[in-house]
Amino acid sequence: MTTSTMIPGARCITDDNNHYFRSVTLYDNKVVEYTFNKVWLQKTFPETIVAKLRENFPDVKQLRMLNVGSGNGEIDCTMLKHIRAKFESIDNHVVEPSGDMLSEYKSRVNNFTTCNQLAEVSCTWNHQGLDEYMTSGSRSMDSQPKFACLVDDLDRYNNAFETYERQAVSPGFKGWINQGLPDVAAELKKTFPSDEVRMLSVGGGTGRLDSKIVRQFLPHFSKITNTVIDPSKEAISTYQTMVADSNNQLSEITYDWNTMTLDEFKANQESNPARKFHFISAVHSLYYPDDPQMAVSYLYDLLEDGGKLLIVMQDEDSGIERIVRKFDLFDDATNQVDAFAAVRNQLKQLHIDYEKHLLPASYDVTPCYQDTEEGGLLLDFISHAANFKQTVSNQIQHDLLEYMRSEECSKVKGEQVLLDALEVALIVTK
Ligand SMILES: C[S@@+](CC[C@H](N)C(=O)[O-])C[C@H]1O[C@@H](n2cnc3c(N)ncnc32)[C@H](O)[C@@H]1O
Repeated sequence: MTTSTMIPGARCITDDNNHYFRSVTLYDNKVVEYTFNKVWLQKTFPETIVAKLRENFPDVKQLRMLNVGSGNGEIDCTMLKHIRAKFESIDNHVVEPSGDMLSEYKSRVNNFTTCNQLAEVSCTWNHQGLDEYMTSGSRSMDSQPKFACLVDDLDRYNNAFETYERQAVSPGFKGWINQGLPDVAAELKKTFPSDEVRMLSVGGGTGRLDSKIVRQFLPHFSKITNTVIDPSKEAISTYQTMVADSNNQLSEITYDWNTMTLDEFKANQESNPARKFHFISAVHSLYYPDDPQMAVSYLYDLLEDGGKLLIVMQDEDSGIERIVRKFDLFDDATNQVDAFAAVRNQLKQLHIDYEKHLLPASYDVTPCYQDTEEGGLLLDFISHAANFKQTVSNQIQHDLLEYMRSEECSKVKGEQVLLDALEVALIVTK
C-alpha cells in the first residue's frame, strides 16, 4: 500500500495552466543532459516512426495528426518537419489547455512556415484539456463543422454588437474612460508639450467609445488629428454623422477616415508611410487582424517615442472568453480565440512593459433564452457565428446556453442571466 502526505490547502500546479508552463519552462532551462531531443527526435523518430508511417500508408498524401498536451510546440514542430519530408501535407490537430503555450506554438509554426519548412501544414487549435476535448463533439477530427463567421458580414456584425452593448449592466472600460484616461492624457501632455496630438483608432466602429476617448484629450491639446480605421462603411458613416453634429465638441477635431481593415491600412502604408502617432487605441478590435501578434508589433512601430498604446480586450478569465474557447466553432476563420494571449505574448517577447487594468463588466443575456430576434443577435455576437440559431446544431446550441448560465460564465439572479465580461485595458508607453 502506498501512503501519501496531503498538504492541507495545497492546490495542484496543473490547476493553473499558465503557471504550470512557466514552471516547466524554468525546469527545462536547467537541463544538463537530455538525449530525447538529440538522439530520439532527430534520429530515431524520422528513421523508424516516420518511415513506418510512410510504409503503412503508401497512398496517403495528407497525414492526420493529433497532438495532445503539445506545450509551446517545440517538439511538435520538429516532428512535423520530419513528417512533412515524407508526406505532401499534414492536418495537425493540437489540444493544449494553456493559451500562452498555444500562442507560442502558433508563432513557431509561422516562423517555420516562413522558412518553408512547414508549408502545407494546417493546424486546428483546441484550447482545452484532453477531457474537455473528448467530451466536445464539435471537435471530432472528422466532423469539424464550419460556420460563417460574423465579421464576414459586417452589417449583421454591427447590428449584433449594438444589441449586445445595449445589454451592458455595468460599465467596465466605458466607465474607466472618465476615471483612468484623464491621467493618461495628462501624462501624454507632459511628454509632448506642444498643442498638437496625432491619434490613431483601430476598429473605432461607430465612435461610441472612440468619441469619448478623444474628448479626454481636448483639455490638453488644441490641435487633434484622429485617424480612424474600420472596415465597416456603416459604422464609419454613423461615426461621421456624430462628428457632424455641432452640439458635441468633435467638430474641433480633424478626422482622417480609413474604411479598411488594419491589415489593409498596413499594406497601404508600406508604399506611403504616415507620420507616427502619439496615442493609439485598439478597443476590442485586435481579435480580427490576420495575425494579432504582428498587429501589436506594427502598432508599437507606429508610435512616436514616448507615445502610448491602449489595448482593450476580453480577459482570458471572462465568461464570454470561456464560451468562445470552449465552443471554438472556427478553425482559423477568426483569430478571436486566444487573441489576448497572443497580444500579451508578443509584448513579452518584445520585452515591452505595460500597465494593466482589470475592469469587471457584465451583460444581461437573458434574451438568449427566449425565441426573439434580439436573442438571436446576442447569440451571434457571443459565438461570432453568423445566424447562430439557424446554422449551429441543436446540441451545440443547448450545450452553449447551458454553459453560459453556469457559474463559470454568469451570475443568475432569478430569471436573469448576467454574463461576466471582464475586460482588460493595457497601456504601453514607448
Ligand atoms: C467589438 S467592435 C468595437 C468597436 C469600438 N471600438 C467599440 O468598442 O465600440 C470591433 C470593431 O472592429 C472592427 N473590425 C473588424 N475587423 C477589423 C480589422 N481587421 N481591422 C480593424 N478593425 C476591424 C469592426 O468593424 C468593429 O467596428
